[in-house]
Parts: sequence; C-alpha cells; structure tokens
Amino acid sequence: MSYVYFIPKNRSAQTVTVRSYRERQFLYLWRKKMRKFIVAGNWKMHTTVTSGRRLAGAVVEAVKVPKGMQVIFAPPATHLTAIQKVVKGKKRFACAAQNIHQAESGAYTGEISAAMVADTGASHVLIGHSERRQYFKETNAILNAKVQRALDHGLKVIFCCGEPLSVREKGRHFSYVIRQLTATVLKLDPKAFKRIVIAYEPIWAIGTGQTASPEQAQDMHYAIRDAVRRRLGDKAADRVSILYGGSVKPANAEEIFKQPDVDGGLVGGASLRAGDFIELIRIAADLDKRR
Ligand code: 13P
Repeated sequence: MSYVYFIPKNRSAQTVTVRSYRERQFLYLWRKKMRKFIVAGNWKMHTTVTSGRRLAGAVVEAVKVPKGMQVIFAPPATHLTAIQKVVKGKKRFACAAQNIHQAESGAYTGEISAAMVADTGASHVLIGHSERRQYFKETNAILNAKVQRALDHGLKVIFCCGEPLSVREKGRHFSYVIRQLTATVLKLDPKAFKRIVIAYEPIWAIGTGQTASPEQAQDMHYAIRDAVRRRLGDKAADRVSILYGGSVKPANAEEIFKQPDVDGGLVGGASLRAGDFIELIRIAADLDKRR
C-alpha cells in the first residue's frame, strides 16, 4: 500500500510517494504525538436547550474520549451554560461558542462577548465560518479583532476557512484559502497561534451532501500546514490541528480522518443526530488507537 501526497509548491503540484509500511506508521505515530485529534459538532441554529441537553447527554453517556482526542459541542449561545453542565467532569469533552462580537462590551443589542462565553466555562469559539462571512459580512479586519478578543479572554479559536465552488472551478482554491489565513491567524505570533485550531470547510461541501474527496482534503490540509510552516515555523505547523468540515458523516469519515494532515472534523448536520455523532467519535478514536 502506498500513500500519495500532493505537495503544492510554487503553485504547481508535485507528487511524492511514501511507499513503505514503516514510513507510514512513523508518520502516523509522529502525527499522533504532535497534534490533538478533534471532533467538533457545530449545531448552527438548531435545537432548543431541552433537545440540545438530550443530544449532548446521549453522546457523553455513550463514548469515552481517549487521550489525545477532544470532542467539542458548539451549540447556540443560549445553550452554552446548560451544555457546559452536561460536559462538566466528562474527560476531553468541551464546549465552543459559534460566534462572539469583537468589542469588549457595549451597546450591541443581540450580540455576545468573549467574556460572556468564557464565563459559561466554554473553552473555544468558532470564528470565520463561511456562513458568518457570507450572511453577516464579516471581513478579515472583523475576524482579526474577534480572534484577538477571544485570545484575550483565554478562549481557543477554531478558525474556519474555505473556498466557494467558483474559485475551485478556476483552480485557485489553494491561493484563496492561504490568503484567507495569511490575512488573519497567520499574522499571530507563534505563542498566540498555539491557541488556534484551523478548520478547512470548502463552501461547496457544506450542507450539500457533497464532500471533498479524501485527496482533495489532504491536498488542502497539506497546503495549509505548509503555509503555517513558512510563516510560523516547524513547531507551529506540526502542532496545529487542522479539521475538515463539509458533509462529514459516518459513511465518509474514516477515509477523510485517515489522511495524514487531517486532524479531525468540524461537523454540521451529522452532529445533530446522536447516533451519527457517536459513530464519528468512535471512528476517530479507532483510527487514533491504530496509529
Ligand atoms: P455540514 O456537516 O452540515 O456540511 O456542515 C459543515 C459545517 O459547516 C460545520 O461548521
């Protein structure tokens, strides 16, 4: 069995084949040691506090998250306190907010601040999701301010990036995604960057049932890690968890999670079904054990 890496270098792809089983094993072990494998569920604007509590409860009761892995629920802000209670004391479970406002506080009716999120006990926040960029016109300047505010309050950031279909069709997806990152989280210093998780979510794969192929995911994740390496060095690149998002479900998760530069998933639809989400965690845990 051989593993194929597509290494985008100077914009053209170069193929390197790692042939031996030993080499593959070494890569797996090395990766496991360096990075946390994360399965995160973005509930978007779904569930109520009552149904959300039931959903999270079913998941925490059904699975034990192994060392080196983390499971994160990102419910609507109204549920954070309740879901935080569900995960409290459950090892390697955590909560994330789906958004924060960039200001410390103020007259921003309907918004929530980083301080409010941190006070619920949530440890993470999603920033830069394509739905926020598209529907709420969040620019790089706004995203940078949000990232800084989150870090100031001790939150970790799951920073999302990803290209629309039109960009992929033109073959410009690598430069597009790398530009999204160089304008934002790659400006951080390596110390601050330690608190960043990157989620690659091709817009054409979100909620469409159409997933990136494992090779497409691996190519982009490699390119992202390469960009981190160039800007922030080896340590930052080897440590950062890069999640894939876009129609991840039990039927396709194994092939995607298996890729050497894929460190987990940011899951939408399938995270709303306890059975599916439990299965995704089991698939990830199983792969992690075999690595
Ligand atoms: P789906 O898994 O429903 O495609 O959503 C992905 C997503 O946007 C997660 O943030």
